[in-house]
Amino acid sequence: MSKPRLEGKVALVTGAASGIGEEAARLFAEHGAFVVLADIQDELGQKVADSIGNHRASYHHCDVRDESQVESAVNFTVREHKKLDVLFSNAGVIGPLDGILDLDLAAFDATVATNVRGVAATIKHAARAMVAAGTRGSIICTASVAAAIGGAGPHAYTVSKHALVGLVRTACSELGAHGIRVNCVAPYGVATPLSCVAYGLTPEEVEVNSAGAANLKGVVLRARHVAEAALFLASDESEYISGHNLAVDGGFTAVSHSYAAM
Ligand SMILES: NC(=O)c1ccc[n+]([C@@H]2O[C@H](COP(=O)([O-])OP(=O)(O)OC[C@H]3O[C@@H](n4cnc5c(N)ncnc54)[C@H](O)[C@@H]3O)[C@@H](O)[C@H]2O)c1
Repeated sequence: MSKPRLEGKVALVTGAASGIGEEAARLFAEHGAFVVLADIQDELGQKVADSIGNHRASYHHCDVRDESQVESAVNFTVREHKKLDVLFSNAGVIGPLDGILDLDLAAFDATVATNVRGVAATIKHAARAMVAAGTRGSIICTASVAAAIGGAGPHAYTVSKHALVGLVRTACSELGAHGIRVNCVAPYGVATPLSCVAYGLTPEEVEVNSAGAANLKGVVLRARHVAEAALFLASDESEYISGHNLAVDGGFTAVSHSYAAM
C-alpha cells in the first residue's frame, strides 16, 4: 500500500455498519486511523468493527435522530482516544418512493430527521469537540446526485440532500475560523442495502441499472470509490478544500441527459 494517509488520526463514521460507511471505515483504518463506527444496526456494526480489529476500530450505538446519542458517541470517541480529527457523517435513509401528489408528510419528516437534522447534530457535537481541543478537523457528509438535480430520488430524499449541501456550506462558513473543514461527497447510484431495498432489486440489478443510465461508461460505481473520495477529504491532501461538494458521479450531474440521448 502507498503511504498511510490518516496515520494517527481518530475518525467517527456514522452509518458505518453497511454500504458506503462500512467501506469508508475499512479504508480509513487501512490508512492508519482509529475508527469509531456508529450505527443503529448494532450486531452488524459490531461485526464490521471486529473484522477491522480492535486495535483499529470499535463500535458505538448511535441513532443520529437522537441528539443525546450523538453527543454520547462524540464524548465516547474523545474519552477513549483523546481527540476527534475526522467526522464522516454518512448515515442516511432514502424513505418511501411516493409521488408529490401522494406525499406522505410523516415519512417526509422522518427522512429529514435523519438526513438533515441528524447530520446537523453530528456536525454540532463533533465541531464542539474539535473547537474545544483546538483540532484542525475535517468533517465530511454524504450528499447525493439528488442534491444537485431533481428526478434522481424520491422527493423528501431530494429535498434532504439539497438541504445537506446548504448545511455543509453554512457550517463551513463558521468553522473555517477554527481551522475546521466541512465538505460533502455526492455519489451516483451504488448497490448498497439502501438502494437495493428501496427499489426491490438485487445488487447486480442495481449495478446494471446504474451503469446503464451512467454518463461515464466502462466502470461501475462501487462504495469503495465513494470511500476513496471521503478519504481524500479526510486527509491532509485536501488541506485547503472546504465548503466543497465532491461529486462521485462520473459526470452524471454535469451533463444534460436529454441532449446526451440525441
Ligand atoms: N446507495 C446509493 O446509491 C447512494 C447514492 C447517493 C448517496 N447515498 C447516501 O449514502 C449514505 C450511505 O448509504 P448507503 O447507500 O451506504 O446505504 P446503507 O443502507 O448500506 O447504509 C446506511 C447506514 O446508515 C444507517 N442508519 C440509518 N439511519 C440511521 C440513524 N438514524 N442513525 C444511525 N445510523 C443510521 C443504517 O443502519 C445503515 O447501516 C446515505 O446518506 C445515502 O443517502 C447513497
